[in-house]
Amino acid sequence: MSEYNKLDMFEESGYVVLDQYDQAADPQEWLDVEYVDWKSSGDTRFAPLASAYGDIECDGFWNHNPPKTDKDGVWIDSQTEKAPILTRRAMEPGANVGRCRIIELQPNEYGEALYNMHRDDNNRLNPPGTGWIVRGFFNLTDDQDSVMILREDKDDASTETRVPLPAGTMAVIDTQRLWHAVWHKGAEPRYCLITSWESGPELEAYLKARNPRARVDSLPMTDEEIAAGEALAEGKRQARAAALAARGEDPRFGDGSLRVMEEEYSEA
Ligand SMILES: [Fe+2]
Repeated sequence: MSEYNKLDMFEESGYVVLDQYDQAADPQEWLDVEYVDWKSSGDTRFAPLASAYGDIECDGFWNHNPPKTDKDGVWIDSQTEKAPILTRRAMEPGANVGRCRIIELQPNEYGEALYNMHRDDNNRLNPPGTGWIVRGFFNLTDDQDSVMILREDKDDASTETRVPLPAGTMAVIDTQRLWHAVWHKGAEPRYCLITSWESGPELEAYLKARNPRARVDSLPMTDEEIAAGEALAEGKRQARAAALAARGEDPRFGDGSLRVMEEEYSEA
């Protein structure tokens, strides 16, 4: 038994993909909001709609004073006024919302996305006995050839799912369980709404009303393409380890795995 309340539908794979909504019928609100630079995986910027205390910043809620878990995000009026439909979509489940932000991701390569894979720290300071935090990803731009890469084991490509990202894709992911990153092949940036939700009866009802699938077909790739990506990612890991070692820093975490990200916490 988990010490947190989790939804059964995530047990099999750690994610569910819902029926798409008609994003193309909505205005492009993501072009109107204010973005801030934020250290993350890949070349990214973020536009927060809800933050720890209502400021336009993207730090984890636990890094504030007083620290808090990834719940009870404070909506930022100057942002939600410019993105009322996206705000409504984030609030629609009726679940407690923590961080809510739009990510802007520049195009990258498969191997770079593998290098960027990480797990989120959504449940730091979350009181046991309450709902486990999962995250919703609503793809805003029509990125039919791009994918959300998910892995149960970051070193095992056979555990990989590549979720295609046409506009209106709705994926809800236990990003503290699954390694994840996006491979974005477009010529223009990709935009996606990311919302932290508390697991509970409200979120469950919302998901069940939208045909949740715990397995989807991956975008096809050849073994050669995957191997080339793995080689590129491993080269970047080795280069980073060498750079850390040259600075006199330990290139490995306590569990022996190579440090990849600057920050323990990151985004996709
Ligand atoms: Fe993430």
